[in-house]
Amino acid sequence: MKATTIVFYNQKGGVGKTTTAINLAAQASMRGRTLLIDADNQGNLSLQFHLSEPKTSIRDLFLQKDFVPIEVRENLDVIPATLDFAGIDLEIQNTLSRELILSRALEPYKNKYEYIFIDCPPDISLVTVNVLSAADYVVIPIKAAQFSLDGVGGMIEIASKIKRAINPKLSILGLLLTHYDERLNITKDIFNVIKDNGWSADLFDTKIRVNTAIENAQFERKTIFEYDRKSNGAIDYASLGEELQLKIKKLQDGTK
Ligand SMILES: Nc1ncnc2c1ncn2[C@@H]1O[C@H](COP(=O)(O)OP(=O)(O)O)[C@@H](O)[C@H]1O
Ligand SMILES: [Mg+2]
Repeated sequence: MKATTIVFYNQKGGVGKTTTAINLAAQASMRGRTLLIDADNQGNLSLQFHLSEPKTSIRDLFLQKDFVPIEVRENLDVIPATLDFAGIDLEIQNTLSRELILSRALEPYKNKYEYIFIDCPPDISLVTVNVLSAADYVVIPIKAAQFSLDGVGGMIEIASKIKRAINPKLSILGLLLTHYDERLNITKDIFNVIKDNGWSADLFDTKIRVNTAIENAQFERKTIFEYDRKSNGAIDYASLGEELQLKIKKLQDGTK
């Protein structure tokens, strides 16, 4: 077993990175052992699993200290983040190969999990560079709202720069529309912008519809499947999980 590593990346906040990381990891853990990593010092993902004051956190990984992921559900482990992760960029400034710290630290875990999902902070920092350097695939969640596509071109550019310079195995798995409401006028504009930029082929067929069950689940600190299996949120994330698996399989078969 060699884990497939997928990161959720968008320099904007509030687009559904954390929600998507949690629910896709929950879905993947029904099939195989899954590791979910919080790389955002805001710790939203960690809070969802009641890990506000964990003994160890992602900071230890970056400082090359011993680390044991925390089991939060059957088949699902978490590496949490806490506020003290905020200063890490400066702390690792002078470390040798500072872009590859996370990638190297994760090496021993790759044989233990089928999937590793990483939730990114909303920025471009040494942490995000580390995360992208450790990943096989990037998913870019995009909130289906006005101006939400600003910056997408830049993020695709960053990913391809990292691919060229540091991590040749990195590919963009897809752009994911979240908070999606097909009745809104803006939705048509968003599809047009995606088409004009030549990104249509990268768009996941599955869209995550706007759904209050997703917010309620978060409020109760449950995954969408625990909160309400029949909600649109659960239906969409289950279908996204299947599409993601198929896409990965196709890409991996194609590169063999
Ligand atoms: N499909 C959706 N429908 C309704 N609310 C959503 C949906 N996806 C995410 N949210 C809510 O939007 C907010 C931001 O989502 P989050 O995943 O934390 O974004 P990010 O990690 O990109 O900052 C959260 O309050 C979350 O509950
Ligand atoms: Mg987040």
